[in-house]
Amino acid sequence: MKKIIITIDGYSSCGKSTLAKQLARELDYTYIDSGAMYRAITLYFIQNRIDWNNHDEVREALDNIELEFEYNPITQASEMHLNGENVELMIREMLVAEKVSEVAAVKEVREFAVAQQQKMGEQKGIVMDGRDIGTTVFPDAELKIFMTADTAIRVERRFKELYARNKNISIHEVKENLELRDYIDTNREISPLRKAEDAIILDNSQLTPDDQLRLVMQWVEDALMVQSS
Ligand code: CDP
Ligand code: CDP
Repeated sequence: MKKIIITIDGYSSCGKSTLAKQLARELDYTYIDSGAMYRAITLYFIQNRIDWNNHDEVREALDNIELEFEYNPITQASEMHLNGENVELMIREMLVAEKVSEVAAVKEVREFAVAQQQKMGEQKGIVMDGRDIGTTVFPDAELKIFMTADTAIRVERRFKELYARNKNISIHEVKENLELRDYIDTNREISPLRKAEDAIILDNSQLTPDDQLRLVMQWVEDALMVQSS
């Protein structure tokens, strides 16, 4: 059967990566977490005190960044490696979350990440989630999903995840970060977060992960049928 590209864009913490991983497993496709790339670049900039408002400094720094997804058989997930180091846990910390949207708004950073993402899709058979995947990275993707969920539900979902790892985190802090990132991501100049015209909206506020998978697998079957007809 022909392979397709599935894009999942949407607001923070609505379940994009959960859905993307489910689909990749069902279809035996590769899952690519584009947000992890922006998070890893941000981590590098923080660690190396790069001023991301200085274009020359950014260009030079990007020349020294190598990003790789590596499969970890223990967690059964692909994990982000930055210059050979596994940074999967570090990039999820608040320190990175607080700065990532500023860094992701920088032109050179976006060009760097988008070029690599497009390369990963050359053979199709991928599910990629992010903010601009259906609009900029793969405007011709066969199936585009735009995800959303009520803000209170998204905050609760992300808080639960972070609290499991760090009991010092407050729900207020998580809410503020999520709203700030959504604001910056939606209002930035280059590739802002928006629904591609041909994307299907999925509001999963009241759906369990199993519900959402069942629903979306019907859309996948339709997209595959169009491909093979
Ligand atoms: O998991 P969560 O939805 O919180 O965020 P993420 O997917 O890990 O993305 C982190 C940040 O990277 C977002 O808030 C955006 O600022 C940026 N991002 C982006 O600009 N474009 C993408 N395709 C993916 C992420
Ligand atoms: O990738 P994104 O930031 O959009 O969200 P995620 O990391 O996939 O999901 C955030 C949290 O919401 C995870 O803990 C998921 O298990 C949970 N979730 C849920 O409770 N119900 C859903 N229908 C989807 C995700």
